[in-house]
Amino acid sequence: MSTVESLRRNAPVRPMASGRVFNFSAGPAALPLDVLQQLQQDLVDLWGSGIGILEHSHRGPLFDRLLVESHAAFMRVAGAGSDWAGLFIPGGATLQFGMLPLNFLPEGGHADYADTGLWATKAIADAKMVGKVNITFDGTPFAFNRTPREGEAKPSAGAAYHHWCSNNTVDGTKWSVTPTAAPGGWLARDASSDIFAEPLDLKDHGFVYAAAQKNLGPSGMTMVLIRRDLLEKQCRRLPSMLRYDEFDKGESRPNTPNTFGIHVVGLVCQWIERNGGVKGMQKLAGERSGTVLKAIDESGGFWKAHAERWCQSPINVLFRGPNEKIDAAFVAEAAANGMDGLAGHRSTGGIRASMYNAMPVEGAKALADFMRDFARRNG
Ligand SMILES: Cc1ncc(COP(=O)(O)O)c(C=O)c1O
Repeated sequence: MSTVESLRRNAPVRPMASGRVFNFSAGPAALPLDVLQQLQQDLVDLWGSGIGILEHSHRGPLFDRLLVESHAAFMRVAGAGSDWAGLFIPGGATLQFGMLPLNFLPEGGHADYADTGLWATKAIADAKMVGKVNITFDGTPFAFNRTPREGEAKPSAGAAYHHWCSNNTVDGTKWSVTPTAAPGGWLARDASSDIFAEPLDLKDHGFVYAAAQKNLGPSGMTMVLIRRDLLEKQCRRLPSMLRYDEFDKGESRPNTPNTFGIHVVGLVCQWIERNGGVKGMQKLAGERSGTVLKAIDESGGFWKAHAERWCQSPINVLFRGPNEKIDAAFVAEAAANGMDGLAGHRSTGGIRASMYNAMPVEGAKALADFMRDFARRNG
């Protein structure tokens, strides 16, 4: 049997009128249906031009307009004023793990990093390739099931910046308090999995970045917000594609940019604005995670959450059943019932429900009902 045939035979129940399933993938992740339908049209004919978005020149007048509109929508939703540059940068958030220290970790200086899980650990490893790193928090002794408490991740004197990952996608934890930076330094935030799931707090920050494939658009590109005064403070000579000031001067197109990705980010930001803004998104995230956490709490110990509750992510909810076999059966049965992408990250195992902005509250309700039913049958 071919893979396609086998996929067809095991086709999941499709719970939505649109014929789509509930996608709990950690990323690439669910995008708003409105946006996908608009894109279908724009692939063939952008704004009545008779040319699709993938085919338009990145220097043509239509793309000029599109870039201005996408950028403006992103900056509005971010609440970022003219003292910030908003850049569309190719490559995942992982590129920023190296690009940030290359630009701002000076020879002979150091930067602070909090280690709150896999992505923060990777950011630290890349920064260490560039310069000296001071670890302000180490979550390894407790398997990253919590983030720092207030005052725990102390910045060190003279650190150029303090890097933190606000929502830890792999472990399902979030910071309950924003860290602080050393005097004269600034905060650098990896917001890949919680950007625009709540109002963006730019206070004390110099730098915020987010891979697009969760709450913004397609994989392979990253949104970067950088305080304008930092654009002139780059600490070493670098090739053009590694320099933030080059992206700023070139309006995010120092080379041929990901024109499609820029369009998607713009459409997603406009969708957020039409659907209650970041405050509306925050409320829905609370409803979704609350619904799933209630099913864990009411399972009589069948389901166990990974994160300590006070720092539970409202976006990625990790839990386990009594053993790995049961977890695997749950993931498979859920997929057959129209709830896909629930397997935990390969480094943690277990079950992970990732619920980004485009996940309908009905998806969380369907999952919670299924968790209750599964626990009854297998408890
Ligand atoms: C918090 C966080 N940071 C960074 C990354 C890496 O992103 P990319 O794969 O786009 O490099 C991810 C990916 O899931 C993530 O969740």
